[in-house]
Amino acid sequence: MTQLIEKLNWRYATKSFDSSKKLSDEQVNTLAESLRLSASSFGLQPWKFIFISNDETKKELLAHSWNQGQVVDCSHQVVFCYNENFNEDDVQKFLEDTAKTRGAPLESLAGYGDVMKGFLSRMNSEQKISWMKNQVYIALGSFLVSCADQAIDACPMEGIIPAEYDKVLGLEGTGWKSLVACPVGFRSADDKYSELAKVRFPMEDIVDFIK
Ligand SMILES: Cc1cc2nc3c(=O)[nH]c(=O)nc-3n(C[C@H](O)[C@H](O)[C@H](O)COP(=O)(O)O)c2cc1C
Repeated sequence: MTQLIEKLNWRYATKSFDSSKKLSDEQVNTLAESLRLSASSFGLQPWKFIFISNDETKKELLAHSWNQGQVVDCSHQVVFCYNENFNEDDVQKFLEDTAKTRGAPLESLAGYGDVMKGFLSRMNSEQKISWMKNQVYIALGSFLVSCADQAIDACPMEGIIPAEYDKVLGLEGTGWKSLVACPVGFRSADDKYSELAKVRFPMEDIVDFIK
């Protein structure tokens, strides 16, 4: 078995964190960097991630998280957001960033820019939001793997009320919208879920190999 598969078997959606154990700054920075490195459609990164270690803020969020205790027991509650105002200006910013990072003239990216702007312009706002949510979920998926890689426990969490999160986090009016969350930290010794066998469909039911 590869080391990665062992780590993926080790991880589970943690129901109870040991609140006395906190992530080090280095661990938090590594998780943040792994989010920054997530793949996204065209590389457009229409997202933002908020790491919350403040106890008062976590307590406020608990009421808007179906009272799931992980939100307060975790070391950090991580909130994944998309940008509801994402538009052509953001594409332009990305093009400028690409030109600068790769030392290419901005004009050489004009065709690529047109493709991206055309792609966005063909979507209505609902489709654009759905596209952005897909990007954010890709980041969530790679985040879970990054957590497992560092032996950090996590619980992907859709059981939140995004509009209430937006209020608590001061996002209202900024264009940023909460979508999904993921408390991280270290499992509590008495979390019985850590010992449950993984329930997964057999390989032949979910994977086809066309040779
Ligand atoms: C998008 C998403 C949302 C989830 N929301 C919650 C949640 O709100 N609360 C919770 O306890 N688990 C939540 N889970 C965890 C799943 O129930 C869990 O991943 C699934 O049962 C598989 O178990 P495992 O992750 O422990 O292997 C969520 C998982 C995903 C991927």
